[in-house]
Amino acid sequence: MNPTQEEFQGWFSRLTDFKQNRFHPLVWINGEPEIGENVYIGGLSEVNAKGARVVIGDHSDIASFVAINCADSHRKCIGLSDNVECRDITIEDHVFIGSHSVIKGGAHIGHHSVVAAGTIVDPCEAPPYSLIIGNPMVVKPGYYLPKLKEKSLIPHNLPTLGSEEQAAAIRVLQSNWVAQGSEVEAFENELCRFFNIPDGHAVAVSSGSAALYLALWALDGKKKRIGLPVYSCAALRNAVGMVDGTPVYLDCGEGSPNINIKDTDNTEIDILIAPSMFGIPVCVPETRNFKVIEDIAQSLGAMVSGERIGLQGEVGICSFYATKLITTGGQGGAVISKNKALIDKIRDYREFDCRDDSKLRFNFQMTDVQAAIGRVQLKRLPEFLKKREQLFQIYSTAGLELLKPSTPSHIPVRYRAVVRCSDPMALIKILCENGIRAIIPVEERELLEVSIQYPHSLALAHKTVSLPVYPSLQKEVVERIARIAKEYS
Ligand SMILES: Cc1ncc(COP(=O)(O)O)c(C=O)c1O
Repeated sequence: MNPTQEEFQGWFSRLTDFKQNRFHPLVWINGEPEIGENVYIGGLSEVNAKGARVVIGDHSDIASFVAINCADSHRKCIGLSDNVECRDITIEDHVFIGSHSVIKGGAHIGHHSVVAAGTIVDPCEAPPYSLIIGNPMVVKPGYYLPKLKEKSLIPHNLPTLGSEEQAAAIRVLQSNWVAQGSEVEAFENELCRFFNIPDGHAVAVSSGSAALYLALWALDGKKKRIGLPVYSCAALRNAVGMVDGTPVYLDCGEGSPNINIKDTDNTEIDILIAPSMFGIPVCVPETRNFKVIEDIAQSLGAMVSGERIGLQGEVGICSFYATKLITTGGQGGAVISKNKALIDKIRDYREFDCRDDSKLRFNFQMTDVQAAIGRVQLKRLPEFLKKREQLFQIYSTAGLELLKPSTPSHIPVRYRAVVRCSDPMALIKILCENGIRAIIPVEERELLEVSIQYPHSLALAHKTVSLPVYPSLQKEVVERIARIAKEYS
């Protein structure tokens, strides 16, 4: 015969001193502790509140084999005292107590603290967010505060994904065709329409890095001198290395995050990778003696002289990473070109399987799940860009000194709101104290080469902060950030 839980608890209470309790039949509760809402207490733990006040706050989690005991009878036992000494215990909200720990009378544990397994907590005042560990115990005050603060900050960047993206992903999952297929082809052709080029002139791939590598490979970058800015992203250096090219590093223009392509006149290069950083478009001159890969990873939709950028050079590359202007669900990229032969060459490289020859190729494919999300995001891009523009204008009208294009015919997209400031770390700290995450957009350690040869890149790395600007950010939050940034930049 199997007893019900109630029957079992009934017998248990009769045969032991264990009171029925809401936690576990084998939790021993003595006296009247004040236990908050949503508290868990594991089996074979005890809470003894006989003779003193024991408080356990809401949302606390007490593992098994824990003794929370207000009474101490050791002095009575050996004859030093006539009484059992009882002292209050306070455990505030959101405290985790690991198994085999002992909490003695006189202990006060602040909220959001952790008592590590096996710790003996003596009478103490442990402030909130502490880690209490060991025997003899060590209290590390505020141990969890930075991590918790970081978690609750308004993020610097976020993708904008909603029910339409979810529905698109589910539709493909339900179709059972999840690898590269018709969705990828449709996404590629929608990209072509976006860039006003014929269908078939875009190849969707697994990342912006893959797109960069493929573009360099298609332009026969091996052993070639490849110009790239030091003020950019590690993906550029990686792609040059992967294709076995020779990097030729370039500074950005004064006060601009982009290279000034005219500055390359006296530099011997065969191929140039020209990223349009932060949404600010680069202008590629028609006459030049090298090939150009336009990197629009950060500037999808930006324009030069009325045309969307990406096709000013031989090849353009896009990134659809999670925090880019649009995402194909976390990772993704594309190569675009007016030159169909280049695109066909890249497409051939990507189709690595079931081929009739033994040429080396590689799997750089995007999946249909990714492409389906990308199609929705591409459709929503105008709405995203509009919202970003509105938020950027709040920073601009607050009088912040933001990085912007130098020419009216260059129409940016607001991928980043980068403000010049004399002490970036001080501004980042004050924003953090106000619950906002800001970053240095490219830190000195991230420059692809650090040298006084690149003074403009160093100056930007030392004197800029990137403020949050993304579609789901509220206008009121941006107004608050703008006020703080104006005061401290
Ligand atoms: C300018 C630039 N180019 C290329 C890339 C690489 O893109 P992905 O992250 O999709 O590989 C990035 C990514 O951050 C980037 O910022």
